[in-house]
Amino acid sequence: MRIPSSTRVGIVGGGPAGLLLARLLRGAGIDCVVLESRDRTYVEQRQRAGILEQATVDVLRSCGAAGRLDQEGMAHDGIELRWDRRTHRIDFPGLTGGRRVRVYAQTEVVKDLIALNLADGIPVAFGAQVLAVEGADTERPVVRYGLDGGEQTLTCDYVVGCDGFHGVTGRSVPESVRTTYERVYPYSWLGVLAEAPPSCDELIYAHSPRGFALHSMRSATVSRLYLQVPNGTDPADWSDERIWDELDARFAVEGDWKLRRGPITQKAVLPMRSSVTEPMRYGAVFLAGDAAHIVPPTGAKGLNLAVADVTVLAAALTERYAHGSARLLDAYSDSCLRRVWRAEHFSYFMTSTLHTDPDQSDFETRLQISQLDRIATSPHASAELAENYVGPPIG
Ligand code: FAD
Ligand code: DHB
Repeated sequence: MRIPSSTRVGIVGGGPAGLLLARLLRGAGIDCVVLESRDRTYVEQRQRAGILEQATVDVLRSCGAAGRLDQEGMAHDGIELRWDRRTHRIDFPGLTGGRRVRVYAQTEVVKDLIALNLADGIPVAFGAQVLAVEGADTERPVVRYGLDGGEQTLTCDYVVGCDGFHGVTGRSVPESVRTTYERVYPYSWLGVLAEAPPSCDELIYAHSPRGFALHSMRSATVSRLYLQVPNGTDPADWSDERIWDELDARFAVEGDWKLRRGPITQKAVLPMRSSVTEPMRYGAVFLAGDAAHIVPPTGAKGLNLAVADVTVLAAALTERYAHGSARLLDAYSDSCLRRVWRAEHFSYFMTSTLHTDPDQSDFETRLQISQLDRIATSPHASAELAENYVGPPIG
């Protein structure tokens, strides 16, 4: 595919944020180019999120990217919380006026968007490593990138950094105008993919004195499971048997419930972090998704925030090109940050309520149990969790 040397919107990063933004801009007749450092197979196989909020599904539908999601995505009307060998179900539609979430893997969202974008002739360059974004405070910022052993430039009206937490676009914003708020957690997740049918129809978030555990799924035959582990854990130290035994211990409840075991096909350790960089815009450069903010995965918000950011940005760029007004572009950072901070708070709440800090005192454990008891006994506390989990509408 020929990559032009100039375009209206240069998009750095071909993860969910970059690929969806390209699709939304193309729908509005705005030219763009996506530069992605990795190859297509790598981007399509990278195991990550699984939960799509209603608003995320609506956006994907609105741009014709939900064909397979509507066929294969699993509608979920609740989650189960477990603690103290007890269990409590959060009923989403009942507590939120009918809203629900979908289980559909980020890998599949990415595959769908890549296929549609390429079929529509949107230039998506794989193996294009962006080196720097220059002239953020000028009318024509330039993206410098390496491709096929050579160096190229892309001149744009606007550049959008959708290049994730380790991306380079954020560096084009001078340190003097940006502030980063951050928290690093004293534990990580060991995430595994197993050829085992899900052990329950819904997700299970479990608090236990041994640490947090999460049961999720990818299909009728594949389970996705996570265990809290110490920072620096080597996945090779966790045999399949050790993983299943530990999951069994953490999910244990009164009554008969059985975790279904099967061969583990993938294992990876993921550090946990909360981070927000403000503002999300500097001159002609915008940041979206993980490039601007990170949440610990316990609230299932990262992918949904990325989708919300680029939806707001696409509407703002559409207004700019259709009517010449920069009003929505000027409001971009503030309007996204309101949603971002709500998701940050919820993700922090879920993480700190369900995980066991290595230095945690018995007093703090009793507070966690009290909070979980409160959720189980108060419709207000349950509704607060449910509303945050299913997420607000975008905009
Ligand atoms: P990314 O997906 O990180 O994409 C950034 C892209 O930019 C990458 O493809 C990268 O290769 C590319 N790139 C980076 N640097 C450059 C460069 N210099 N030049 C060119 N390209 C570059 N979120 C949820 O909403 N729900 C969940 O259930 C959930 N569960 C999760 C579970 C796990 C285990 C993890 C790790 C994350 C989870 N998340 C979840 C978070 C979610 O996966 C991320 O928030 C999401 O991937 C963000 O999308 P993005 O497009 O902003 O960034
Ligand atoms: C999944 C990941 C999460 O972080 C979460 O909170 C729920 C589900 C998943 O990968 O299925």
